[in-house]
Amino acid sequence: MSNVLIYNVLISNVDSNTVSPLNDPMTMPLLEVKDLMTHFSIEDKTLHAVDGVSFSLFRGEILGLVGESGCGKSVTALSILRLVPDSGKVISGQVLLEGEDLLEMDDNEIRNVRGNRISMVFQEPMSALNPVFTVGDQVAEVLRLHRGMDKSAAFRRAAKLLGQVGIPDPARRVSEYPHQMSGGMQQRALIAMAMACEPDVLIADEPTTALDVTVQAQILRLIEELIHEGNRGALLITHDLGVVAEVVDRVCVMYAGVIVEMGKVGDLFSAPQHPYTIGLINSLPTPGRRRFIAIGGSVPDLMDLPSGCRFHPRCPRAQEVCTQEEPELTLTEKGNEVRCYFPGNKHESLRRAI
Ligand SMILES: Nc1ncnc2c1ncn2[C@@H]1O[C@H](COP(=O)(O)OP(=O)(O)OP(=O)(O)O)[C@@H](O)[C@H]1O
Ligand SMILES: [Mg+2]
Repeated sequence: MSNVLIYNVLISNVDSNTVSPLNDPMTMPLLEVKDLMTHFSIEDKTLHAVDGVSFSLFRGEILGLVGESGCGKSVTALSILRLVPDSGKVISGQVLLEGEDLLEMDDNEIRNVRGNRISMVFQEPMSALNPVFTVGDQVAEVLRLHRGMDKSAAFRRAAKLLGQVGIPDPARRVSEYPHQMSGGMQQRALIAMAMACEPDVLIADEPTTALDVTVQAQILRLIEELIHEGNRGALLITHDLGVVAEVVDRVCVMYAGVIVEMGKVGDLFSAPQHPYTIGLINSLPTPGRRRFIAIGGSVPDLMDLPSGCRFHPRCPRAQEVCTQEEPELTLTEKGNEVRCYFPGNKHESLRRAI
């Protein structure tokens, strides 16, 4: 056998034997959220914002968290970083960063994790940037705080980072104020700030919602590049399934504080199993369809949840059992995990009103 042939055989063997972190039970997740519960106290009532959420994020992976407004996506992210506002409380669960529980850390330890090992990018770039400091100063501040760099070294590094996230002429723009930049440039600057300390995990909460479609695609590509090439992990929060289809590797679909379906993005789009996921996919605009097919009814009041499955009042598959006990998240033969007594890829109408 010629050397070239042996080489090709070896390479093809390596390829076919490569174990993806997703199917290797020995791979430790980068971030593992276990049975997370975060509630708010409002007068004498309890609002169940996050009600037992579990998922794993692996290196090199972008995990999408999707669902309608108010289903608990942002509170999940804030709980991970222990940034829940005062009226809320993480009631129980674990947030393991390479095995270390963030919920058990003291204030100094968790401060050191934020911005350093886990960074967050928010929806509104203008409200996340301080209007009275230059963009360069704000990126440099992160480096001074977490890396102990002196002012001029941090500023030089800030300019380099702005260049890396695709801001043209970074040597000049590093001295600009946020209002001198477009929304897309501001969001790039925030991503530069988030990536300044080369975090293991990026949490991006609706990072492209405020941007127009072309800029949106550029920002998503940038996140994809930073995560896949840097072997980091990202939790990408969005209510937009189009964004999910674009960059996400796996998806968690949230409904009223719980995950109702979880799986690889291809499986989820080609064979969604939960009636809510099917409803979300059906409500996507499609060429040739003149009307959106909306899911009838609305998300339940998280202070007054229905008994049994939280989706049953809107569900065309609902039977007696669905009104009595909440189903567990269960692995189906399709590979998706689904919280439904009657999972399946049937596209029945979800227009039933409550
Ligand atoms: N500070 C707060 N005080 C009281 N309730 C809150 C607070 N923050 C969030 N909630 C409630 O927690 C629930 C989950 O909110 P969350 O912000 O996580 O939703 P979301 O999925 O991020 O929605 P959106 O897509 O609109 O951003 C909602 O019912 C919301 O009203
Ligand atoms: Mg939100």
